[in-house]
Amino acid sequence: VADYKYTRLSRNAGPVRRLPDALIIGVKKCGTRALLEFLRLHPDVRAAVSEIHFFDKYYHKGFEWYRERMPLTLEGQITMEKTPSYWVTKSAPKRVYAMNPSMKLLAVVRDPVTRAISDYTQSASKRPSLAPFEQLALSNRSGCSAVDPTWAPVRLGVYARPLRRWLRRFRRDRLLLVNGERLVADPAAEMAKVQDFLGLKRVITEKHFYFNSAKGFPCLLKSESSSSPHCLGKTKGRNHPRIDPTALKRLREFYRPLNEIFYRLSGINFGWP
Ligand code: A3P
Repeated sequence: VADYKYTRLSRNAGPVRRLPDALIIGVKKCGTRALLEFLRLHPDVRAAVSEIHFFDKYYHKGFEWYRERMPLTLEGQITMEKTPSYWVTKSAPKRVYAMNPSMKLLAVVRDPVTRAISDYTQSASKRPSLAPFEQLALSNRSGCSAVDPTWAPVRLGVYARPLRRWLRRFRRDRLLLVNGERLVADPAAEMAKVQDFLGLKRVITEKHFYFNSAKGFPCLLKSESSSSPHCLGKTKGRNHPRIDPTALKRLREFYRPLNEIFYRLSGINFGWP
């Protein structure tokens, strides 16, 4: 009888691919890779390595296609995926809800001005001939320069709009807004909140991080796959160009009232300058 029970248990406990229980839905250039890499340290988390883009690009392929792209998990382990473009995909909240109304959602947010510069720096690294940031962020309308709200790096920092869309489908307590600045300044404290939100034991702690002064960011003392120190790749934590202070001032003025709306809607004052 004991043998039979053992076989049954081990068969049931074998690893299988499951649809995700939690998603990192955004926001692009706010620290989504760092959040995922940190979470992967947890023994009860298994995450797809690459961005799957199911709810934006490949929805027509169906749930089975999506499931096949998920990592193998044991009973009790959480399956996760991160695709930052879900945050701004209009149909994503409805689609995610249709798949799993109890999905746990995580979105990292940071000062939208820094986010815009980070976004621009990424584009400029691929296209060295790209015009200067100031020229793209500010458009010259009737003789005076004003922030161009249609330029994608600027537009993506207007967080209230997508948040409203997600909150139309999901209860506020289903979405955790991770503080991108805190994720750099105190990763262990931010990860404690993340683990609590996901219903995980607090396994990821101060012991996992060290500050790498050459990189200027927290790195991992050991990663999921190796026992040696590990920082995020070269494309994370790039040097940003110096931006003209007048342009920065304009951007700050542009975002100030929009940030206020976001703080009110989210119930969190992020205190961005
Ligand atoms: P920069 O490269 O512009 O500094 P995403 O992963 O969503 O694309 O976000 C990238 C940003 O994550 C980086 O933007 C960096 O500021 C931030 N980040 C947060 N924690 C980090 C870490 N531990 N190492 C490197 N970058 C980190």
